[in-house]
Amino acid sequence: MITKQTKVFEITDMDNKLKEELREAAKVLRDGGLVAFPTETVYGLGSNALNPDAVRAIFLAKGRPSDNPLIVHIAELSALKMLVPAIPTEAKILAEKFWPGPLTIVLEKLPQVPDVTTGGLPTVAIRMPDNPIALELIRQCGYPVAAPSANISGRPSPTKGEHVVRDLMGKADIIIKSYDCKVGIESTVLDLTGPVPTILRPGILTPEQLGQTLGKDVVIHPGILDQSTTHAGPNSGTTAGTDTHLIPPKSPGMKYTHYAPKAEMVILRGAREDVEREIERIRTEREQTGSKVGLLLFEEKDFEKAAHDFFAMLRDLDDQNVDLILAGALNEKDSIGLAVMNRMLKASGYKVIDV
Ligand code: TXA
Ligand code: MG
Repeated sequence: MITKQTKVFEITDMDNKLKEELREAAKVLRDGGLVAFPTETVYGLGSNALNPDAVRAIFLAKGRPSDNPLIVHIAELSALKMLVPAIPTEAKILAEKFWPGPLTIVLEKLPQVPDVTTGGLPTVAIRMPDNPIALELIRQCGYPVAAPSANISGRPSPTKGEHVVRDLMGKADIIIKSYDCKVGIESTVLDLTGPVPTILRPGILTPEQLGQTLGKDVVIHPGILDQSTTHAGPNSGTTAGTDTHLIPPKSPGMKYTHYAPKAEMVILRGAREDVEREIERIRTEREQTGSKVGLLLFEEKDFEKAAHDFFAMLRDLDDQNVDLILAGALNEKDSIGLAVMNRMLKASGYKVIDV
């Protein structure tokens, strides 16, 4: 793999320098290169979505499995005609209400959207990010921009510019470093190609919000709802396991272990005081044998803050070289709690202890 001379642009406001640097970055995209940029959810690693070689370079840079399709980013609704044969009414309603914003919509694709972008699927996932730098970059590029999260595959998603520099120095042509991402977890992915609007990846926009806007039920893919009971991993305590393969993943991303910190990670679930007591007990026990233990505990009700902090905390714990991370489960009855738990379970390899 070739090492690139990555340029890092620090951009925090829309002055003239920004315009110049964005022009350069947009040209790199048009020429088939890779540009990492901020969005409101997490940083993305972008290339021209309609250029198969450019998209292939993203998979190589990230070490991403080639059957895991990318999200295509647009800056204006008129760009949809480059991607889809028709815009269903439901997509129009949602785009009007939530774009730019943390919602990705899966639609039937046009043949000119390359297979490598969609992992060979007949559908394409599209979103309009809510970040002025991302929007200006995509607008100036002139093509839709395919962009997965700007991390090495399997590592926590990047929510700060420095995370991207760590992971992609020498791999991207340009890294645009800006403010920390507002949301902190990736967009809600909603499939509109089936009979019922179905959430394939939970995010900060909830099924309740989407359903209310559409005036009909939005369901969560059963593979997500079963996440905490179907994957009994090693050390999984009392979690009962059924076979995950009974529910085929609709979104290829659902089947990969993600976000893994270097340390072993275990989630403790139960009443708060029981969880805290058990965490203290395990911590004391492990520290006595010389292990370094890190904690991942969030305020019980501030789910948006948990979403905002989650990936950055995982990376901090990695930097502290802990051997074991003890995490407190969030309430999955809350839709944002469910979204953060979806990432937490993957990060832990589905290791849950019910206390
Ligand atoms: O917030 C986000 O969505 C960020 C920022 C950069 O926009 N992007 C992101 O991309 O999270 P990525 O590649 O890390 O995740 C894409 C997810 C995966 O779970 C993938 O399987 C799913 O979207 N996906 C993409 N295309 C799909 C399709 N045609 N059908 C079903 N799922 C799809
Ligand atoms: Mg990702």
